[in-house]
Amino acid sequence: MINTKINELIQEIEEIENSKNIEEILEIYYNNINPTLTKIIKLAGYAKIEKKGQDYKIIAYDINNQEKEFYDFLGMYGVLNLGHCNQYIVNKIKEQMNELCMTSKVFLNSKYAALAKLLANLTGLKYLFLVNSGAEAVEAAIKLSLASTKKKKIISTYNSYHGKTLGALSISGRDVYKKYLTLLPNVIFIEYNNIDQLQKVIDNDTAAIIVEPIQGEGGIIIPNDNYLTTLREICDKNACLLILDEIQTGLGRTGYLFEYQRYNIKPDILLLAKALSGGVIPIGAILANEKAWEIFNENPLYHTSTFGGNSLAITAALETIKYTLSNDLPKQAQEKGEYFIKKLTQISINYKDIVKEVRGKGLMIGIELISEEYAASIFSYLIQNGIITAYTLNQPKVIRIEPPLTIPYSIIDLFINTFEESLKHTKQLFEL
Ligand SMILES: Cc1ncc(COP(=O)(O)O)c(C=O)c1O
Repeated sequence: MINTKINELIQEIEEIENSKNIEEILEIYYNNINPTLTKIIKLAGYAKIEKKGQDYKIIAYDINNQEKEFYDFLGMYGVLNLGHCNQYIVNKIKEQMNELCMTSKVFLNSKYAALAKLLANLTGLKYLFLVNSGAEAVEAAIKLSLASTKKKKIISTYNSYHGKTLGALSISGRDVYKKYLTLLPNVIFIEYNNIDQLQKVIDNDTAAIIVEPIQGEGGIIIPNDNYLTTLREICDKNACLLILDEIQTGLGRTGYLFEYQRYNIKPDILLLAKALSGGVIPIGAILANEKAWEIFNENPLYHTSTFGGNSLAITAALETIKYTLSNDLPKQAQEKGEYFIKKLTQISINYKDIVKEVRGKGLMIGIELISEEYAASIFSYLIQNGIITAYTLNQPKVIRIEPPLTIPYSIIDLFINTFEESLKHTKQLFEL
């Protein structure tokens, strides 16, 4: 009897796994995942069932259960620098899977050593700790900087985004996600790009300042040319650690392997995640110098993670970095980004009543619209015409463009043409 019931349940679940029926999947999302989010997905026109990812494309079931190709200009918010299911990385991980998926957690791992050495070589930061996500990397950075410096305060910036676990949220600059919570004390917020404010709040008890070299979720906000170098100088003067959150900018997206390298400076702590493992497996990384690692001298197990540093993530990171360097993806991002931004700017000149600004570095591009309604009209037009984008989390007026760095120019052109049509459509819709 029990067996029959279990068999029926498994059969029902397997039918759902392979379902092409959008209404059925929406209903399960509504009942078992997140009712309000389900309504938003439907309203935004994103109710498609994804099945397959390939380079810059996602194949999904659209209305009438028909397969349709979508061009992915969102790239999972900066994860997919190498595209979906990059076959070089996938094959390397398959090979690793047959050898060792996790680790013993007690023996030495030569690939972990190789990754630490490679990253130390590329960044000049000698220590590496691996975790499983961006927010976890941020959590570790907060802990290590407070414990290693024995100081109490952390300075962060308004409009920043560092993740949604309690520590990461405490230093993220948007209040809406903090409602009802008791967060970390001694976190001070200043305006991004404002050195005067920093000078006023930094003191002997400041453990660290954390910034993104380009605010991603804040709306693709690019700081002044001397911002990061001045931050570096101020941190040095005050014996305070500079933490750079490159979770979204890192691994070539902005035209540099790491965006801070544009400015010839070095952080004390560098945070990576998203693109570091080639879009195949979760990862997060904290790279740091001796000052930030001080606490590990006192207690080598001060911070640990069971899954952090598993063999699959290590292999993915090693191969991703090799692939990124040997295909010079930072250069590709820089050249394609320049082309993309130039074309978008040219088109937008004729739509000044809709587009406020096009900005970006490499293939981290933001299009700021005059209003949220115009942004919504453009998203909806793009998705109906097979192009995936999204707005930045803290600034819904900004459409973010973060395609794989390997994207061909012909697909960039396709975006540009469809974007121009979406502007025409919006102009008509709002009778501008
Ligand atoms: C700059 C930055 N930091 C941290 C995070 C948090 O990463 P995760 O979502 O992997 O926790 C994000 C995610 O978007 C991010 O963009």
